[in-house]
Amino acid sequence: MSSKVWGGRFTASPNQLVEEMNASISFDQALLDEDIEGSIAHVAMLARCGIVEEAEAEKLTEGLKKVHEKVTSGVATLSAQYEDIHMNVEMLLHEEVGELAGKLHTARSRNDQVATDMHLYLKKKVHNIIGLLKDVQHVLCDKAEAHLDTIVPGYTHLQRAQPISFAHHLLAYFWMFQRDTGRLEDSLKRIDVSPLGAGAIAGTTFPIDRTFTAELLGFDEVYPNSMDAVSDRDFIVEFLSNASMLMMHISRLSEEMIIWSSEEFKFVEFDDTFCTGSSMMPQKKNPDMPELLRGKTGRVYGHLMGLLTTLKGLPLTYNKDMQEDKEGMFDTVETLEKSLSVLAPMIESMTVRSEHMYESVKQDYSNATDLADYLVTKGMAFRKAHEVTGKIVLTAIQEKKNLLEVSLEEYKSYSSSIEADIYNCLRPESVVAARDSLGGTAPNQVKKQLNHAKSLLKSNY
Ligand code: ARG
Repeated sequence: MSSKVWGGRFTASPNQLVEEMNASISFDQALLDEDIEGSIAHVAMLARCGIVEEAEAEKLTEGLKKVHEKVTSGVATLSAQYEDIHMNVEMLLHEEVGELAGKLHTARSRNDQVATDMHLYLKKKVHNIIGLLKDVQHVLCDKAEAHLDTIVPGYTHLQRAQPISFAHHLLAYFWMFQRDTGRLEDSLKRIDVSPLGAGAIAGTTFPIDRTFTAELLGFDEVYPNSMDAVSDRDFIVEFLSNASMLMMHISRLSEEMIIWSSEEFKFVEFDDTFCTGSSMMPQKKNPDMPELLRGKTGRVYGHLMGLLTTLKGLPLTYNKDMQEDKEGMFDTVETLEKSLSVLAPMIESMTVRSEHMYESVKQDYSNATDLADYLVTKGMAFRKAHEVTGKIVLTAIQEKKNLLEVSLEEYKSYSSSIEADIYNCLRPESVVAARDSLGGTAPNQVKKQLNHAKSLLKSNY
């Protein structure tokens, strides 16, 4: 006979390799807290419904708490011999309360148990991640507030397009993270559902109370279908998808910070504590942190594709393939927690080199649109104004001048309607301030935007 918990129907124990392959304890031990929490709720329900005696329930609950204490303090160890966290806890409970431990699994299967653990785990983690996201958003707001009047070239095609307020650029990321927060909050509706009591597939013959366990565990709802309850992993796919989008945003911001910190741009400088040196080139200060954030995005995308592929084609209900849902989820949680935790202080401690930004703006032709718009206000059609401005820019480039250095006489040779007020109109400050449309980069608008952002941060969490 096999020595396994499920060994009754077997004549031999599994071979060593099978045991290794089958075991998930090396990673699902991360579910210890949730497994014990779920079991304590289950026991309370069993007693309430008269399925076990009150005294038995008390003993089981005390035993479960002891197991938790012993495992977390390192007095008890988890073993691959017992496959997963669920069986390990049960074996350890046996050491605490003897044969009574066998009653814990009444009216329950590991299929609804593991799903419950993961719902509980992800709910906690999503709340935590939303909190960390808020920290990043706070830092973005603070930096934006300090740089409302800092002017920097704005790019399209990574070519200088129009000068913008640096605050406006930073706040663009605030809104991306705000959408990420919205997606994560929305996903909680689907995470906050209890599968407990679904049994292995079809429910149970015992008179259980699923609503009671759901309430004890703080779940909003229960799965209405036991088959769906044990085979649904959508909530994890959804988390990985939301995490991928969030990492994509982190990666774009990281990419910009890497470019900005280069000698070619000199827009920002990272604090030494966020950089590393080169083993060969003594002069180097490498932006390893944003590079790693950019790099880690790939592994999160990988986890999303991995789980989608694992689930594709699985017949209902539980299949062992589903054990593969965990490592990617744990790794994604850890990656997000670490990435967001490093991102906030990295932005906070980054020096913004406003003078260099302004120098860059002054040298470029990003005020050309304003020259064209000026001609339009003088009555020229925009297409014509665009063409005339193009010619002026071409000559200026050839003569190595910027548009503020072109003389009024030269301007007049293109259009007699150009007056001396053109120079004020082409100053970077005026160019930025002129974009006073809703959501535009004028400091006036950016201030409104910042207030809106700050009020959102106050309103939740
Ligand atoms: N370790 C398993 C998992 O993570 C627990 C569920 C096992 N269920 C089963 N019927 N073998 O998926």
